Amino acid sequence: MVDIERLVRDFNPEHGFTEPDSVTERRLHDLSGVFADTAAYEAACLAGNPLVYSVQIFTPGGGEGDLHVGYGTIEPGTVGSEFFMTKGHVHERAEMAEVYIGLRGKGYMLLQDVRDGGNRAVELGEGRIVYVPGHTAHRTVNSGSGRLAYFGIYSAAAGHDYRRIAEDDFDAVVLRGAAGPRLVPRREVRDMKS
Ligand code: F6R
Ligand code: ZN
Repeated sequence: MVDIERLVRDFNPEHGFTEPDSVTERRLHDLSGVFADTAAYEAACLAGNPLVYSVQIFTPGGGEGDLHVGYGTIEPGTVGSEFFMTKGHVHERAEMAEVYIGLRGKGYMLLQDVRDGGNRAVELGEGRIVYVPGHTAHRTVNSGSGRLAYFGIYSAAAGHDYRRIAEDDFDAVVLRGAAGPRLVPRREVRDMKS
């Protein structure tokens, strides 16, 4: 008999689930290696340890065919010129896709094919769905002045591999520019400092 209580959960687009099954918070000090401008990152860490993003998870089941729903929020802010972003990952079961649903705010998803390195940035925000196909590393960036909130819906069996991204990072970063967000190759941010 299906336990109906387990299948439903109340949520609010601004605050997420009334009763998440788990919550992960990532603060600036947890994000070593994520920002391309390491000098700006170290300076920001000395100045404080603000919340950068958090994920609340609704896990109605853990079987091979089940789905998990993550409610993510990224705070507005920058490290140097780089907008706040998630660590990013590829699924351990790399073939497993994910659907992102923008709920609030404005931002981008960086998508990078781990087989051939091909990469793209697509906008994510209120009123937009992004389908992340299998074999695609994904990172979410808040380029707006308010919080970015979204759902990510993925297989309970997908798993999260952060190591692969740490070793072979996304090729692009999103910078704050005078005329709006600018997508630049990661190596250019490194070159700016030398
Ligand atoms: C789940 C998923 C999201 C992210 C969230 C935080 O597969 O893609 O729920 O977990 O955006 O990002 P990471 O996991 O990269 O810290
Ligand atoms: Zn994912």
